[in-house]
Amino acid sequence: MNFEFHNPTRLIFGAGTLSRLGEVAREKGKRALLVTGGGSVKRNGVFDRAVASLKEAEVSVVECPDVEPNPRIASVARGAQIARDANCDVVIAMGGGSTMDAAKVMAAAVYYDGNPWDMILHGQDNVYVPKKALPIITVPTLAATGSEMNKGAVISNDETNVKSFMSSDLLYPYVALVDPELTLSVPRHQTAYGVCDLITHVTEGYFNGIDGTPIQDRFAEGVILTAMEWGLKAVADGGNLEARTQVQWASIVALNGWVQAGTNYVPPVHMIEHTLSAHHDVTHGAGLAILNPAWMRFAAKSRPARFAQFARRIFGLSSNGQNDLETAKEGIDRFQAFLESIGCPTRLSQLGISDEKFAQYAKDTVLVLHDKNGRLLGRPPMSEADIIEVLRAAL
Ligand code: NZQ
Ligand code: ZN
Repeated sequence: MNFEFHNPTRLIFGAGTLSRLGEVAREKGKRALLVTGGGSVKRNGVFDRAVASLKEAEVSVVECPDVEPNPRIASVARGAQIARDANCDVVIAMGGGSTMDAAKVMAAAVYYDGNPWDMILHGQDNVYVPKKALPIITVPTLAATGSEMNKGAVISNDETNVKSFMSSDLLYPYVALVDPELTLSVPRHQTAYGVCDLITHVTEGYFNGIDGTPIQDRFAEGVILTAMEWGLKAVADGGNLEARTQVQWASIVALNGWVQAGTNYVPPVHMIEHTLSAHHDVTHGAGLAILNPAWMRFAAKSRPARFAQFARRIFGLSSNGQNDLETAKEGIDRFQAFLESIGCPTRLSQLGISDEKFAQYAKDTVLVLHDKNGRLLGRPPMSEADIIEVLRAAL
């Protein structure tokens, strides 16, 4: 192992912490761009409470509402323009991963006169690397992506049907203000997709990292087991604040860099899912629930011992005379059954997706993270034919 770990985001976590929004924002200025999604925060009263806290701290609010799920680059450009026109000092993102990602890119786009899509990696020769960004405060209302405490953002371009990411230290939020009470209103299916997303963040590192990371393995297993235990409870009873709290903490550690530190992993399942989202506006966590087990069955063939370890440590399976691949397969079946039990789809046909454009999806998937042979990075690297094989298995 050879690595550096850095995450400057200050995390303020706990029920009731929303009331500190004004105090925290005031540390960065007097005028905030408040970015929200399609209206859930207005319906459940969170918006009014946030504005009251900001007002009390003498921070004025400029609104950027209506960021859509799978946020579009046009929304980013719109928000950056509002912030520029109003001379905002700070960007506050209050919503799910889509709202947070859009707001993070807005914060950088404020200082860029060109098209913000230039910052999103999509295979272009000249990527625009931002030099400056407004300070960002994230207030997540859904436990899933971990965007609140990381430096990534995923944005879609509906003109080209590409969904991809950017990553910059400038996008680390100044503060992640995480109040699990804000997630009490998340519908059951969306709660389940969030649990699947966070578990997938951890499995990507677990299965696609370097060898010889026993501490990270145990971190990862701890997050997966905790997310399964408390995720079931949060799905069964959305009003269970303790379950919401544990799931939200799990979602943060799953992608704030700590669990995967030193593993040098790449996320192939995410790359395939982003393509599906780009073409079909699929909900990210639902797409992952379908693809991850299919990918695991594919990858287990080349690394059965690793997947057998997952089966033993997560599901308590013993070998009973089976070889590693047989144990691995049983573990993957159990994992898929868990996803089904919380209400996730596990087949592409459930989302109305057919094999019509699989070749195109495979091509789009390798646009950014590929080796010199054009294969999607991961363990093992995947040719376009391999990607099609996984998609077919998920039909
Ligand atoms: O838009 P509103 O009205 O707020 O409703 C949202 C949306 O319809 C709703 N919702 C959110 N909080 C709620 C709520 N409904 C009721 N009560 C609440 N408290 O949930 C729906 C989905 O929201 P969205 O933000 O799209 O979900 P999620 O948090 O799963 O974010 C998904 C996006 O994040 C990206 C995904 O690709 C996708 O675009 N990702 C970002 C990552 C990152 N930045 O690190 C990593 C992830 O792997 C992922 O790729
Ligand atoms: Zn994800």
